[in-house]
Amino acid sequence: MKRIIVSNWRSTALVLTGCLIVFVTLEYFLRLGRIRGRDAAEVRWSHAVNSSSRLAEALTGPNHMIEADVIIRGRDPREPIMAHPPDTDSDITLKEWLEGVKDYNKGIKLDFKSLEAVSPSVILLEEVYRLNRPVWINADILSGPGGQARPLEPQAFLSSVTTLPPHTVLSLGWTTGWTAGTENKGYSWDMVCAMEDICKPLKHPVTFPVRAALLAQSFSQLSWLLQQSDR
Ligand SMILES: *[C@@H]1O[C@H](CO)[C@@H](O)[C@H](O)[C@H]1NC(C)=O
Repeated sequence: MKRIIVSNWRSTALVLTGCLIVFVTLEYFLRLGRIRGRDAAEVRWSHAVNSSSRLAEALTGPNHMIEADVIIRGRDPREPIMAHPPDTDSDITLKEWLEGVKDYNKGIKLDFKSLEAVSPSVILLEEVYRLNRPVWINADILSGPGGQARPLEPQAFLSSVTTLPPHTVLSLGWTTGWTAGTENKGYSWDMVCAMEDICKPLKHPVTFPVRAALLAQSFSQLSWLLQQSDR
């Protein structure tokens, strides 16, 4: 019992430390009066905004951040579209999506599932950046606990996003998996050390998306990783 309480407290502390990273995002919504305090829990998210109808809904709704996956369309014209694998097509391209977002005070998070989609997307993003809004760029770049999917090659991904403005948040993760009814190992020291090596030379703020169910058994490793930088 006592151990459960301790690990809950530790997980909470870890999440709070992680929230300092979203400072730029919080400042943006505070300035607009959309949130009341510097509390990341006040920032609400629309997830999987991968169609025109979902975008229309997210833009007119109360949420602050909108998130979606980006891939290259599986047929011609091969351009970045909003879709989640195994889907290979969508009724909305990234270009249309960004144009839709332009007139609203929403932050965006783009989740890259393929390396091929990154460079053409960065070019499109440069247009949106004239309006200073929170932008998060997410990709799994390392193999993590139970991860089966192949991560994006870290150096190739990072060199494609390096030209993005300095307030862009890089959200860098590990592929993960979860097997019910077995012991699921957490993030190992090797995994967090590899991430630290990759992040050391970066200039952008960095955040680490982690599988919440593995937080307690990885507390030492993840908290060490967060302490390696004030970014
Ligand atoms: C969009 O996301 C939903 C929910 O994750 C999914 O069911 C749907 O197949 C996705 N559509 C595309 C085009 O990726």
